[in-house]
Amino acid sequence: MVEFVAWWALVGCVGYVLKCLGDGAVNHGSIQSPGLKIIPGHTERGALEINLSTDGANVFIGGATGSGKTMMVNAILLQLLENYPDIAVFVHDGKLGAGYKPFFPLPNFHMIPLDGLESQLQAILSEVDSRNARFAGLENCWDIEDYNQQQESPLNYWLVVIDEFSHLAKKKNIMEKLVEMACRCRSAGIFLMMATQRKTDKAVGNDLTDNFGVRIALRVLEESSSKAIIGSPEACHIPASKKGQAIYRGDELITFQGFYLSSGELVRRIEKIKEIER
Ligand SMILES: Nc1ncnc2c1ncn2[C@@H]1O[C@H](COP(=O)(O)OP(=O)(O)OP(=O)(O)O)[C@@H](O)[C@H]1O
Ligand SMILES: [Mg+2]
Repeated sequence: MVEFVAWWALVGCVGYVLKCLGDGAVNHGSIQSPGLKIIPGHTERGALEINLSTDGANVFIGGATGSGKTMMVNAILLQLLENYPDIAVFVHDGKLGAGYKPFFPLPNFHMIPLDGLESQLQAILSEVDSRNARFAGLENCWDIEDYNQQQESPLNYWLVVIDEFSHLAKKKNIMEKLVEMACRCRSAGIFLMMATQRKTDKAVGNDLTDNFGVRIALRVLEESSSKAIIGSPEACHIPASKKGQAIYRGDELITFQGFYLSSGELVRRIEKIKEIER
C-alpha cells in the first residue's frame, strides 16, 4: 500500500522550496518497517512513498526526452544509497553512464556496459537461485524479509537499473533474462527499475512490462504512450515546462513532482556517504 508520510510532508515542502531556490533536495522516508522503499517525489499531501517489496517490485519510468527520467533515477538511487548502506546497485545506461558519474566512487555502485550486460544479468539470476535455496532450507521462510528476521547476517537488497531500455529490445538473450528477473527477483530482495522514452508493445514488449507493478509517467508526447504506461492519457497533458512532474499509477493515479538534484548537491551527498563508510 502506498503511504503518504505525513511528517515528511513538511520536509518535502522544504525540499521543494530549496529546489526553487536552485539548491536540490532529496528527502528520505521511514525505513524502519520491512521492505525496500523509494520516494520518487512529493504530492500536495506530502512525500509519495512506495514500498517495492509490497507495491509492485519493479519500476517502469516512461517519458519523452528531457522529461526528467535520469534525474528521477538519480534521486531515487541517492535516497537508497543513503538509507540502505548495504544495498548493491547495478546500472546499465544507454548513454554510457554520463548521468551517473558522481556515483562511480561508491563501492556498492556498479555500471554494467552493454557487452557485459547479459553475463551480469545471468549472475544476478544465479544469486536469486542461491537466495531461494537458503529460504528453502528454513522453516516458514518465503522471502528476504522472513529470512532477515530469522538470521543474524541479513541479506542485502539489490537494485538493477536500465536507463533507456529500447536499444535492448532486439537483443533476445538480454530480453529473456530481464523477463525472468522481473518474474523471479522480488522475493529474493532484488528489484528492477527501467527508464525509457517509449513504452509501446514494439519497443518494450508486454512480457516484460506486465511484471512492472510500479508505473510512473513523466511528460510524453502521445496519448497512446501515456496510456501504455499508466493506462490513462493524462501524462501527455503535462506541460513541457514542468520538468520532473509525473503521474504514478498505484491504486489510483497520483500526480507528483520529482525531486531536483543539482550535480553539486549530488556530489556533496555522495561524499557524505563515503565519509560514513570510512
Ligand atoms: N525534477 C526536476 N525538477 C526540475 N528540473 C528537472 C527535473 N528533472 C529534470 N529536470 C531538468 O530537465 C533536464 C533533463 O532531465 P533528464 O536528463 O533527467 O531527462 P531524461 O528524461 O532522462 O532525458 P533523455 O530521455 O534524453 O535521457 C535536466 O537536466 C534538468 O535540467
Ligand atoms: Mg536520460
